Amino acid sequence: MHNNALAKAAEELEIKLSGFKYLIFDFFTSLMDRTNNPAKYGFKVGDIACCGGGAYHGATACGWLTEEYELCSDPNEFVFWDAAHPTEHCYSQLAELLWNGTGNVTWPLNMKQLYELDIDTKVSSQDIDLIDVV
Ligand SMILES: *[C@@H]1O[C@H](CO)[C@@H](O)[C@H](O)[C@H]1NC(C)=O
Ligand SMILES: *[C@@H]1O[C@H](CO)[C@@H](O)[C@H](O)[C@H]1NC(C)=O
Repeated sequence: MHNNALAKAAEELEIKLSGFKYLIFDFFTSLMDRTNNPAKYGFKVGDIACCGGGAYHGATACGWLTEEYELCSDPNEFVFWDAAHPTEHCYSQLAELLWNGTGNVTWPLNMKQLYELDIDTKVSSQDIDLIDVV
């Protein structure tokens, strides 16, 4: 519901505000695809965190509380670093999608297209704000 409402609000703002440009990046779908199909993206493990304890290494935190936790030997093999955060390897892929992903991942523009907008449209870098990440 949030994602649909955000897209609608952004479209309305684009009509209302001259020069308003935006992009929406589908972080959730891209991350879930890696979680469910890790091998497709060069990961070995999609549904267990590198660091943590309990079920999926998601039940207890990675060392900042007193609970016991386990740490994997190679975080690059994992989609998730801990219960809440992707690994750098995963974030690097997501950042690349945000930069030059296709229209099913980032739309109506990707970040590269947003930065390459013709200066005749009078869009300066100060006018470019990332309004949200879905
Ligand atoms: C987007 O499209 C590309 C190319 O067709 C495909 O490889 C990718 O899995 C799609 N991603 C999503 C999130 O649907
Ligand atoms: C996207 O950008 C990355 C980093 O600059 C580059 O390595 C990759 O080839 C680009 N992919 C496409 C489809 O342009």
